[in-house]
Amino acid sequence: MNERDSLHAAQLGLGDMDPAEFRAAAHRVADMAADYLERVESYPVLPDIEPGSVRAQVPAVPPSGPESLETILADYLSLVEPNITHWQHPGWMAYFCSVASGPGILGEWLAATLNSNVMLWRNAPASTEIEEVVVQWLREMMGLPTDFDGMFTDTASVSTLLSVVAARHAVPGLDARDEGLAGREGLGRLRLYCSSETHSSIEKAAIVAGIGRAGVRAIPVDEAFAMRAELLGEAIREDRQAGRIPVCAVATLGTTSTTSVDPVAEIARICRDEKLWLHVDAAYAGAAALASEMRPLLSGWEHADSIVVNPHKWLFTPFDASLLLFKNPELYREAFSLVPEYLSVRQTDEVHNFHEYGIQLGRRFRALKLWFMIRYFGAKGMADRIRESCRLAARLRNWIEETPDWEMLAPTPFSTLCLRFRPAALDPDRDLELLNTMNERIMSTVNASGKIFLSHTMLHGAYTIRVTLGNPRATEKHVALCWSVLQDAAAGAGA
Ligand SMILES: Cc1ncc(COP(=O)(O)O)c(C=O)c1O
Repeated sequence: MNERDSLHAAQLGLGDMDPAEFRAAAHRVADMAADYLERVESYPVLPDIEPGSVRAQVPAVPPSGPESLETILADYLSLVEPNITHWQHPGWMAYFCSVASGPGILGEWLAATLNSNVMLWRNAPASTEIEEVVVQWLREMMGLPTDFDGMFTDTASVSTLLSVVAARHAVPGLDARDEGLAGREGLGRLRLYCSSETHSSIEKAAIVAGIGRAGVRAIPVDEAFAMRAELLGEAIREDRQAGRIPVCAVATLGTTSTTSVDPVAEIARICRDEKLWLHVDAAYAGAAALASEMRPLLSGWEHADSIVVNPHKWLFTPFDASLLLFKNPELYREAFSLVPEYLSVRQTDEVHNFHEYGIQLGRRFRALKLWFMIRYFGAKGMADRIRESCRLAARLRNWIEETPDWEMLAPTPFSTLCLRFRPAALDPDRDLELLNTMNERIMSTVNASGKIFLSHTMLHGAYTIRVTLGNPRATEKHVALCWSVLQDAAAGAGA
């Protein structure tokens, strides 16, 4: 049979795929998805390919006529599936995990099927209200007070940007929304405060919000990589005296490098005294609050004006989903709302018209996958999975601490470890470069094994291997595998 014979009649007309063909294809795709999840561990986490090698196998020009679904799916199986880095693989222990759970995937499929654009209630009534419900469920599951409202965005970067712009709008007399910032005589430099360990998304928000990189004041951290809050108060006072305009402070709960925890209660107190907006970046570690016994670590975040938690990080939600919580929704609406005539509807306080609270008009129906997941696993089931990641991290930490020639380089408050190989004969200061080369080599060997994928950071000049846990498909067997692959790599690293 040639390609044209296997085309479906609908492909030769002007309409969409017909429902019967869609149904048959969807069954096949469901099998392909299940097959992938079943066999993901048989792939090396990182594919062994060179840049450009996938593109070289795809025609440079689009097909002018239709191709059969057979051919498309066959190419997907041979070209795409094996040549991705496998985020779903239980050996993925790099950066932070971003895992799509089964019920989350199902919710994502149906959200794509409905194609509901959650801009205004009239155009998305059930989707808007499910989003409202899921935001409140998650708030409740994290033990945060009822004075937080919120919504979903795509990423923490965008949730933070919206909050920095809302904070800027809250500065009395600034009115950057209408007046802009350029060409305003006598206007002092805007300031954003964060720690030197803060994620780059905070600096990007400052770039976009007109604060600029020079307006970001990085407060030094202590030996546990947490912000030295006493220096924050001093910095704000000094800036005010110099005519600068503080816009907001950002505290991070779970920094990207070491998952350190800024002293958010103290930072909140300073922000309250200084009447300064506090944004909390809990993109990774906010999920820990699902386990009530871990909440003391985050204590004080309830005083923030805005918080970001990424379900697509440690809450096994298919990418993307970032939860933005805020206390004063009206400020976001004042900062962003522009309602052209074609979008004007009778205003009601009963429901949100979500497009008014941010930059995007069109918005994906992200809440559906979380609604499926929370109901499928239950709030306790989700909390237990967070606990399990922490238990596995503590187990690995024990193994490392009990083994000569290995050391931990930072505390492990959640499910991420910072470690290195340091043979007793080597001096951490004198032999720093040699240690760095060895540990870099160890990590490359681990990643080349295909079994485990790790990433790194630099701590006080020391090359540091990071191991993060957070995939509900990863068990103690995988953590033990990680540890043995690390040890084997160290044995071959010229120790
Ligand atoms: C602490 C922290 N904040 C923000 C981000 C940015 O997240 P996103 O990719 O959702 O913008 C990250 C990413 O790893 C992060 O670790």
